[in-house]
Amino acid sequence: MENIKIGVIGLGFMGDLHANCYSTLPNVDLVGIADKDPQKKELADKYNTKFYDDYKDLLSSDVDAVSVCLPDMFHVDACCDAAKAKKHILVEKPLAHNHESAEKIINASKENNVRLMVAHILRFDPRCVQLYENTSRDKIGDLIHIKAKRATIIDVANRLSSTSSILYYLGVHDIDLINWISRSEIKSVYAKKVEKHNNGNEDSLLAILELENGALGMLDYCWSWPSALPSGYNFNFEVLGTKTGNFIDMRDQGIWEITQDKLSSFDTHLWPTTNGQITGDLRDELLHFSEAIKNQNKFLQEPDFAAKSIKVIDCIFESIEKGIKVSV
Ligand SMILES: NC(=O)c1ccc[n+]([C@@H]2O[C@H](COP(=O)([O-])OP(=O)(O)OC[C@H]3O[C@@H](n4cnc5c(N)ncnc54)[C@H](O)[C@@H]3O)[C@@H](O)[C@H]2O)c1
Repeated sequence: MENIKIGVIGLGFMGDLHANCYSTLPNVDLVGIADKDPQKKELADKYNTKFYDDYKDLLSSDVDAVSVCLPDMFHVDACCDAAKAKKHILVEKPLAHNHESAEKIINASKENNVRLMVAHILRFDPRCVQLYENTSRDKIGDLIHIKAKRATIIDVANRLSSTSSILYYLGVHDIDLINWISRSEIKSVYAKKVEKHNNGNEDSLLAILELENGALGMLDYCWSWPSALPSGYNFNFEVLGTKTGNFIDMRDQGIWEITQDKLSSFDTHLWPTTNGQITGDLRDELLHFSEAIKNQNKFLQEPDFAAKSIKVIDCIFESIEKGIKVSV
């Protein structure tokens, strides 16, 4: 069977990783990459592909599918354009920057009969898949709480400025994980935020979630730590039930480097480069997407499920704005 022809739209941090990874997949031809920034043209030589400075020209080519790796707020237009051009879509998380846009994308994909997958990378992370196995009702008992903590250095928030929010950039990972692991629904949210740096982003954001099954959820987010925070981040995820408890400490990657002035770990799960090639969760995700398109297999997660997290995020923003608990 022929290789599937894939293109990448948006060549920043994430799009470069997608292009790099596709260029090494056995079943894929990376036929084009697009970015409005002409300086990204050099990536076309690196990955032996064609550069487009307007993604619509890539969509007019005979590409079968695209990865959309644009800033969150531009997902909706690019995904709808891709659907109208009859191209299958892998869109980076979050599906969209609000629920209305998420529905627009889902409808466009249905109307144009193209497949749509949201790149929820933790669905491919062995730690999270094991956590899902460990949290079945017979193992964990009644769910008591799920707590997610993410703290990163301020550099990330400064780079993204108002093109994102901590809830889109980081939070959507955990909200999707909570929807998945809890086997329940988030029914209400109450949240508060603090902004002191005025870089267009939240410095800290805390949210309490009530789940249909009576459990509580907690989001504890901050992306204003000084740059010296060891490894640049502190992520962990905890699930407690009446029978067992589970936690993932994402700082522990199995390797630490200690220099005279710094303590660092290295990514050994998401997109590590192993023997010159991107491996880990991202490779498994892109392989899953391309194989599913080629062989018409089901995706691990359908977009309607991914859209639930966007609804929750809309409600968290509403709660912050109005200072009240909001039903989802
Ligand atoms: N899966 C993950 O763990 C993960 C990690 C980081 C980012 N992301 C997601 O990936 C997406 C991209 O984030 P990023 O950090 O790579 O952003 P980025 O700012 O590094 O890159 C965005 C790129 O898009 C380009 N661009 C912007 N508007 C464009 C347009 N109209 N046409 C063509 N190119 C355009 C910019 O020039 C830039 O190169 C976001 O949705 C983000 O939430 C996912």
